[in-house]
Amino acid sequence: MARTPFVCGNWKMHETVPEAVALASEVRDGLGEAAGKVQVAVAPPFTALHAVGQALAGSRVELAAQDVHWEAKGAFTGEVSPGMLLDAGCAHCVVGHSERRHLFGETDEAVRRKVGALLGAGLRPIVCVGETLAEREGSRTLEVVERQVRQGLAGLSAEQLERVTVAYEPVWAIGTGKTATAAQAQEVHAAIRKILRELGGSAADRIRIQYGGSVKPENARELMSQPDVDGALVGGASLKAKDFLAIVKGALR
Ligand code: 13P
Repeated sequence: MARTPFVCGNWKMHETVPEAVALASEVRDGLGEAAGKVQVAVAPPFTALHAVGQALAGSRVELAAQDVHWEAKGAFTGEVSPGMLLDAGCAHCVVGHSERRHLFGETDEAVRRKVGALLGAGLRPIVCVGETLAEREGSRTLEVVERQVRQGLAGLSAEQLERVTVAYEPVWAIGTGKTATAAQAQEVHAAIRKILRELGGSAADRIRIQYGGSVKPENARELMSQPDVDGALVGGASLKAKDFLAIVKGALR
């Protein structure tokens, strides 16, 4: 089953509005041979979403947000709704990133609600899962990832599941320079695909599973050449257009 690779840059809490527009424009203008062959998105901070969306309008680079609240509107100070993300030009939204889980207490139940709200608004969730170093060393990787996938995606129909991307991001590999080996990534990706097949049958063959955690131009191609690694969620290296574009091109099959 040929799945179009999907590479998304997660800019985290980086870039002012003018910096974000400049970076997004460089990505937009540098796709080259990857245009149309690799799905590409960038996820700026909330403050830059609208301006970056304007810069990317009509281009092959899509806009993603980094988080969302599940309610449509109301007294939720500091939160942003799915409809607001759509209004700003987003097509995707990251959910359950390990920094949100570990620094801000995001639970699997919150992830489930956010995924449902995003799908309801016509947005595509990128659902992050991944084990900590202690969990990997305790041989609990597959158990932890399975719980995060099953609880985060509970109750979705096969049609809804097809609109979801899963990002496997081992916590010990995020921002540390330590990447999972291609074999380690493939093992977990295959396990995730098996769970997705139980949840959504043949839809599982069409769901993209991204790898994230210290993806760089030097390791991107080998990681994404694994049969169940369908792209990447890129942090640090997505802040340099040249590096991000090299990773995007590493997804070309
Ligand atoms: P790094 O690529 O900086 O390790 O971050 C990965 C990540 O968290 C992407 O969401």
